[in-house]
Amino acid sequence: MILLKGPEEIAVMRQANGIVREVLNALCAVVRPGVTTDDLDRLAEELTLKKGARPAFKGYKPHSVAYPKSLCASINSEVVHGVPSSRHLKEGDIVGLDYGVVYRGFYGDAAQTVGVGRISERARRLLEVTRAALYAGIDQARPGNRVGDIGRAVEETAGRAGYSVVEEFAGHGIGRRLHEEPQVPNYYRSGMPNPRLRPGMVIAIEPMVNEGTHELRILDDGWTAVTADGKLSAHFEHSIAITENGPQILSE
Ligand code: MF3
Ligand code: CO
Repeated sequence: MILLKGPEEIAVMRQANGIVREVLNALCAVVRPGVTTDDLDRLAEELTLKKGARPAFKGYKPHSVAYPKSLCASINSEVVHGVPSSRHLKEGDIVGLDYGVVYRGFYGDAAQTVGVGRISERARRLLEVTRAALYAGIDQARPGNRVGDIGRAVEETAGRAGYSVVEEFAGHGIGRRLHEEPQVPNYYRSGMPNPRLRPGMVIAIEPMVNEGTHELRILDDGWTAVTADGKLSAHFEHSIAITENGPQILSE
């Protein structure tokens, strides 16, 4: 069932996502060669608690292994769910920072991929196209359209640039739970479930775009998803409310 949100609920979700945005901004400001992803994880947790919120991902257990950290930090060929560690970021890396909080009973969720120091032209183009794919998807998030219109726009934007989109993970409804219906895949094929978008729906749109093959592998930690061919991957995410007047980005 898709749970619609009223104006007061959306106002709280805007606050939750505002905290996510502040944390992501703070993380981006400290990303540089030498910083470890554990450093970023600690900073995220500290800021979140200071704001009266709680990290959303820590302890999340959709399968046998609970997620052990607060932040997802996915480096280079890591697609999503990179688990923070004592690994140092180095010049030229790209790192996807995916963060979520719970605030006054509601979840916020957003992600962005940033460069560490100077990055290659090749990496910069991947980041730009993935961000553009997110915004192309957001632009479709209006009443009268369907979930598949979002996926189609994301996939077309990535495909036109010669990239592939990840199919194993999708965006999602969000509210009093991190993952609610509907699923919001980053592609569309006929025959897929394709619910109509309505005012009051709140969804997280999160394209994961690969330079090479769309295929993934999960590392032995049970979480880190990496590209099967070792090429780069990028991830951007916003939580958005669908209103009569179109999409409202809550995490911007
Ligand atoms: N943005 C990701 C998602 O919505 C982050 C989930 S990390 C997890 O699926 F640990 F909570 F799974
Ligand atoms: Co999400």
